[in-house]
Amino acid sequence: MMQQPGRLIGLGVGPGDPELITVKALRLLRESPVVAYFVAKGKKGNAFGIIEAHLQDAQTLLPLVYPVTTEALPAPLSYEQVISDFYDDASMALAAHLDAGRDVAVICEGDPFFYGSYMYLHDRLAERYEAEVVPGVCSMLGGASVLGAPLVYRNQSLSVLSGVLPHDELKRRLADADAAVIMKLGRNFPKVRQVLEELGMADRALYVERATMSNQKIVALDQVEPMSSPYFSLIIVPGERWQG
Ligand SMILES: C[S@@+](CC[C@H](N)C(=O)[O-])C[C@H]1O[C@@H](n2cnc3c(N)ncnc32)[C@H](O)[C@@H]1O
Repeated sequence: MMQQPGRLIGLGVGPGDPELITVKALRLLRESPVVAYFVAKGKKGNAFGIIEAHLQDAQTLLPLVYPVTTEALPAPLSYEQVISDFYDDASMALAAHLDAGRDVAVICEGDPFFYGSYMYLHDRLAERYEAEVVPGVCSMLGGASVLGAPLVYRNQSLSVLSGVLPHDELKRRLADADAAVIMKLGRNFPKVRQVLEELGMADRALYVERATMSNQKIVALDQVEPMSSPYFSLIIVPGERWQG
């Protein structure tokens, strides 16, 4: 008899506070024989740290170790090619478990479909295997809550922007935004702050590092050390308050 393949599960585990995982994600995490997670070389993995306490001995751990930590690679290496090969290999590692009938939960910090690496596995595997995605509390919502910043009032629109955008493009999009969240700061922080200052938006902008994690840090925008803004940080420009 043909082996029934396992299920691929993209499991959002929330922005950092271990209590912000959903009941459903926790149940599926505990039920999954294989738990896969993305991790930088030599690191523990952010998503892994969030759920570590819930793991059981019988579960197989499958770390997916990123081959690079930066998009700027020396020629002839191309980031796109290196990372695409990595996702191909990671998909094959998952497929081996799925073919053997084992469910694989890929844990993702925040939400799997919101800038999550899981989506590259999903794109490669979801047509071949049954796939389920469990949404998670994403970092911008975790950030808004700890900053006490209502994001959008009434009919305002929210722009979610990547700090990787070039200066002029970021400025153009921010200038049009009622409210905005800027992700992926890190080394992009000085450029992002400069754009906010040029638009006269710096006073409205709120900054948080590692929102909802035990080492969370909320700092005034003008007090952030430009070169020390970590990867896990974001800026929120809340919508103008509407007196409802
Ligand atoms: C690859 S994206 C992952 C987003 C994630 N899937 C989510 O749902 O929020 C990484 C970016 O998310 C933001 N981020 C993730 N977790 C964060 C946190 N706890 N505090 C602040 N920013 C966070 C940062 O802007 C970081 O550069």
